[in-house]
Amino acid sequence: MKESVDLLIYNIKEIVTPIAPYPKKEKLIKDISIISNGAIAIKDGKIYDISSNEKIRDLYKGEFEIDLRNENIVLPGFVDPHTHLLFGGSREDEFLLRLEGADYLEIQKRGGGIIKTKNDTFSFPEKILIEETKKRLNSGISYGITTFEIKSGYGLNIDKEIILLEIINKLREESKMKIIPTLLLHLLPEDEEIDVFLNDLSDILPYIIEKNLSHNIDIFIEKGAFDIETSDKILNKAKNLNFKISLHIDQFNDINGVDLAIKYNANSVSHIDLTKEEKLYILGKKNIVGIIFPIERLIFSKEPKRGREIIDSGVPLSISTDFNPGTSPSLNFPLIISLSVIRESLTIEEAINASTINSAYALNLSDEIGSIEKGKRADLIIFELDSYKKIPYFVGMNFIKYVIINGEVMKIV
Ligand code: NIG
Ligand code: FE
Repeated sequence: MKESVDLLIYNIKEIVTPIAPYPKKEKLIKDISIISNGAIAIKDGKIYDISSNEKIRDLYKGEFEIDLRNENIVLPGFVDPHTHLLFGGSREDEFLLRLEGADYLEIQKRGGGIIKTKNDTFSFPEKILIEETKKRLNSGISYGITTFEIKSGYGLNIDKEIILLEIINKLREESKMKIIPTLLLHLLPEDEEIDVFLNDLSDILPYIIEKNLSHNIDIFIEKGAFDIETSDKILNKAKNLNFKISLHIDQFNDINGVDLAIKYNANSVSHIDLTKEEKLYILGKKNIVGIIFPIERLIFSKEPKRGREIIDSGVPLSISTDFNPGTSPSLNFPLIISLSVIRESLTIEEAINASTINSAYALNLSDEIGSIEKGKRADLIIFELDSYKKIPYFVGMNFIKYVIINGEVMKIV
């Protein structure tokens, strides 16, 4: 008698997945496992078994079955470890101005940029903000994203950041996909003394943990945003409360944000466009994940091949959307894979590890998501392609046919 499972996917042309050890770095970031003509059994939202087609079909019968006729491939769902998904409005005028030469930080100084998005965000009723963000989540699913980290950051004072965290948590509770909320401190409040702000923050950080609003903190360490001294004080408090730390560093200016990442043993550092090689080397030794954003890097015409340099310096690399209205307004993950290969000089195998297991590792979730292994969450992508090498090749196209989240099948139209 065959054992019954909830879902059986069989005749899979290629099951493509990262394999331990994690995080993937140095030479091992090139390794992935490919099972040709495989099958996957799913039960209670988890990967129950994975092996050759013959073996799995001998052992199991699915309540629901998908036959891929040896034409389609399966990958783990993309894990997006860095997004600013919750905001109101858009910034297409700045985008066009910047392409004509205007400077991002200058625009911000004049009340545009992040400040404009803060004003826009709080000009909408909560209901609309939630609806807009749900649309973005669904768009993300259609591009294969099954886990989203979502940062606050458009409150620019503590009360408003709490409101944003509460909304992110509402979305987390209602959504099938995994959502990880992060408190992001983007800019200092305009109308508050810095000491008052730091005191208020000290009072509120334990509340954020206690109410389960977030266990992650991020700071935009940059000229015109948070300086090293203030960031150090905040991170010291956060670390004592066991917040996990991720930081925006070295995006437009290198002000030594990386030293704080090393000092506080951050989980991840994002952008690292200007981080020096000797510091990258330390990040790698400490398994601090480096996250880059191929679309943001393309828009800002940053030097190509940075992904390659980061991997070659020993850092476990992750690639992500950084979805936000200012620097990276796209959720097209297959395009990000293409750009990683074309512009950042990653191999396709490295790009797959960087968009799945290394991102899971950055979120402290590599035991749960990021690869197709027994016992992990059944978060999968079925591509209407017969080789994983075709993912970067079809630039800007989307061949995703089904996305499976926690064992539940969503058809992508
Ligand atoms: O990761 N630069 C800091 N934060 C975002 C941009 C936010 C915005 O421009 O609205 C980033 O690029
Ligand atoms: Fe960001």
